Amino acid sequence: MTHQDELKQLVGKAAVQFIEDGMTVGLGTGSTVKFMIDALGERVSKEHLSIVGVPTSDRTREHANSLGIPTKSLDQVDHIDLTIDGADQIDRNYQGIKGGGGAHLLEKVVAINSEQNMWIVDESKMVDKLGSFPLPVEVVPYGSRQLFERLAAKGYNPVFRTNGDQRFTTDSKNYVIDLHLEQIDHPRDLALELDQMTGIIEHGLFLDLVNTVIVGHENGPEVIHA
Ligand code: A5P
Repeated sequence: MTHQDELKQLVGKAAVQFIEDGMTVGLGTGSTVKFMIDALGERVSKEHLSIVGVPTSDRTREHANSLGIPTKSLDQVDHIDLTIDGADQIDRNYQGIKGGGGAHLLEKVVAINSEQNMWIVDESKMVDKLGSFPLPVEVVPYGSRQLFERLAAKGYNPVFRTNGDQRFTTDSKNYVIDLHLEQIDHPRDLALELDQMTGIIEHGLFLDLVNTVIVGHENGPEVIHA
């Protein structure tokens, strides 16, 4: 296991200590969340915890179910107590970029319907300013070439995400365009602008959403109340 994976495992294990019997828990997506689900599966089997997971992707649902964690879709639950998810970058104000795994649409829908949101990251994800990680934008395939050109004209350096020699498609069968911005000086303005562009379904700026961040350091997990 790489050092980064060890830190991801560390925060995954730390996060599941916040899950209590009877909770409905949003389950994010990504390699860090995978470790968290492993740890949650262990708790469910050893402690016979009765919880329901609300997964944010097909792969998370399959992984959770394979470990005996029951899942329901968001529409089948009346509330979510806590959602635990990864992030690609988190800045000093605890604003984040997500969607490196292409799951940010469902991740955001689940996040805004959760009473509490927790992000788990290794320390490399903590940055002064967002933007060195490309900003994912999920777009409707129809007309995406024209949308791409509008984004290029704004100087946002768009790149269609690919999977081998095919366009990458999300669980919702949309495309992802990654914006190579290098630095995002005004995340709120950018979020508003992208929210207003027809053809964009959801972007990966997660602003004012997180309550708790667990950062994995060499000497242990750090729990931050954002
Ligand atoms: C999935 O689309 C993303 O939002 C992930 O939560 C995020 O990219 C973090 O993934 P890793 O834990 O794999 O870095």
